[in-house]
Amino acid sequence: MKYNFDAPIDRSNNFSAKYDERKKKFGREDIIPLWIADMDFMTAQPIIDAILQRGKQGIFGYVSRPDSYFEAVCNWQKRRNNWEIHENLVGFNVGVVPALCTAIKEFSEENDKILFLTPVYSEFFDSVEKWNRKVLTSSLNEENHYYTVDFQDFEAKLKQGPKIFILCNPHNPVGRVWTKEELVKMGELCLKYNVMVISDEIHSDLMLWGNKHIPFASISEDFSNNTITCTSATKTFNLAGLQASTTIFPNEEIKKRFEDFWQRMDITRNNCFSLVAMEAAYNYGEEWLEQLLPYIEGNMLYVKDFCDKNIPQIKTFLPESTYLMWLDCTKLNLEGDALVNFMINEAGLGLGDGRAFGANKGYMRLNVACPRVTLEKAMENLKQAVDRFIG
Ligand SMILES: Cc1ncc(COP(=O)(O)O)c(C=O)c1O
Repeated sequence: MKYNFDAPIDRSNNFSAKYDERKKKFGREDIIPLWIADMDFMTAQPIIDAILQRGKQGIFGYVSRPDSYFEAVCNWQKRRNNWEIHENLVGFNVGVVPALCTAIKEFSEENDKILFLTPVYSEFFDSVEKWNRKVLTSSLNEENHYYTVDFQDFEAKLKQGPKIFILCNPHNPVGRVWTKEELVKMGELCLKYNVMVISDEIHSDLMLWGNKHIPFASISEDFSNNTITCTSATKTFNLAGLQASTTIFPNEEIKKRFEDFWQRMDITRNNCFSLVAMEAAYNYGEEWLEQLLPYIEGNMLYVKDFCDKNIPQIKTFLPESTYLMWLDCTKLNLEGDALVNFMINEAGLGLGDGRAFGANKGYMRLNVACPRVTLEKAMENLKQAVDRFIG
């Protein structure tokens, strides 16, 4: 089936956080929302069909999770990433962030340090702080808008004794697909300092320009024994509102410790719609994904080209993965809130504030998972606002 990502979308009755929370987040409702990481696209038809079919049954009692669900997860990893995982080490969860929080809670103590590389997804900070652990960061090196791990600093931070390293693989927001060499180096250092790895691989299906994802735990048995992997079809197929994720454990004991937490909360069953949606996504969603990725690449090329030609004060670059672009606005010389206010009130754009990701001032995150026409309008707004600003 041919999908049309240019098709106009209407999220007015969608109870969409991206649109309906504009007033709360940006102080006004008339901005183009390009912030939270979901897509302004209809999902794959087999997923819609699976949900409609389940809906038509009209019976929504308690559900059990069939083996076919876990088979679908394992087959996807094998097919896409050549990663062989055992079904008995796979767990269902209600989201990657809840899974991160559980791992933090169960495998570290209050006031322990938790390490991650910045700038990074803002919930890493929140998840650590909300559970009364201490954030420990290692800033990525940046050269010509290409980000790499500062291994000297990374090791220095590991020497400070964090209990856990949260790896973002691939890395949101700078879009790096870590190379095998980089992953091996990070993993070996974590083993050397006895630091558990939680690998957040939620963006791992969104590989651009032919890049290949390497699941961190697939690299070696030692890495696998030291890693909890969190992933999901929700980012890939725009299903975040269904709240579902997959956790892959190193062994039964760690799985049990993790799952005991959910047992104590009595959250052990699946939502009947997320169950069928995730299974359909993994079994029949590839055709849609293979058409989505070139569309995202096209949107990124459009934004980069537009900025290069028309807004030289804003530099951007093509990420290796994700549908999120990182905008270097430092040449506008707007500090902190002034930059955010400029984007909202002058350009009419709701972007992610770089400071929330632990970036220095002057960076914004742009979500390009929307019809091209939305980006064209956004870029025109931005150009006009910058032109007015620089006079
Ligand atoms: C790196 C990363 N992890 C996790 C999430 C959210 O996961 P979930 O909605 O499953 O909690 C996001 C959402 O943008 C993300 O970028």
